Amino acid sequence: MPNNLLVEGPEQGVQVFTLNRPEALNALNTELLENLAKALDDAEADREVGAVVITGSQKAFAAGADINEMAARDLVGILEDPRVAHWERIARFTKPIIAAVNGFALGGGCELAMHADILIAGENARFGQPEINLGIMPGAGGTQRLVRKVGESLAMHMALTGEPINAKRALQAGLVSEVCQPELTVEKAIGIARTIARKAPIAVRLTKESVRRANDMNLAEGLRFERHAFTVLAGTADRQEGLDAFREKRKPQFKGQ
Ligand code: HXC
Repeated sequence: MPNNLLVEGPEQGVQVFTLNRPEALNALNTELLENLAKALDDAEADREVGAVVITGSQKAFAAGADINEMAARDLVGILEDPRVAHWERIARFTKPIIAAVNGFALGGGCELAMHADILIAGENARFGQPEINLGIMPGAGGTQRLVRKVGESLAMHMALTGEPINAKRALQAGLVSEVCQPELTVEKAIGIARTIARKAPIAVRLTKESVRRANDMNLAEGLRFERHAFTVLAGTADRQEGLDAFREKRKPQFKGQ
């Protein structure tokens, strides 16, 4: 794996992906996104991986799509952009993704962070959609996921002015679940990921899918999906193990079955 993406683990069920293009504040070029998509493919197939953490550096999670690369693409180039498939790969990853965000999470960087299921931010984090300053607009969820995460008024403010919000505001708005000192962000994210990795994998997978669907479906459809998923779990050995372990006052040993 080229070193623009550092891969560690799995350790205690968690794999950590670190975006590593310090010379460009982790701007997301095709190669980096392709490596991330491939790494997620591997993590998806690896039963040792229960959850993943995506992080960047102390200065930048990612400062956006790579502007130099973008500038070289015309309309057809954008239409045929291979990065679209990489974004879709990230979006359909079935295991939980925890983002540990320090510094700039701008444009595609903010959009990548929003692909995570849980976001932990350092106090120095800045989330923004500055594309409008470049005469363009967000293209990987910055007008869609952002609305669902922070509401229309703040999303509109961010996307139309290009002004970023700080970690405190992101916490108030519900974009992130926790703010901590920048040095502790990755550790916190790994801790959460390890907690999740100890749970029953099929229950984790269906829980993630069910929560995600809350944004896409009306309440009646969402509740029906939840009920079906809940019913499916009744057929798993891990459910039996979880219930038995509770009654026998011991820790469950989940096997992903
Ligand atoms: C390519 C980038 C970059 C980017 C920073 N760099 N952001 N290169 N693409 N998105 C490079 C700079 O050119 C510079 O390289 C080096 O990283 C350090 O950046 P500086 O600007 O010198 O750092 P600083 O003064 O601290 O300012 C940080 C910053 C600024 C505020 C984050 O870099 C900035 O505004 N970056 C662009 C942010 C942005 O507009 N993002 C949205 C991109 S569009 P050199 O070689 O000069 O040292 C997008 C669309 C998504 O994301 C669409 C998805 C489909």
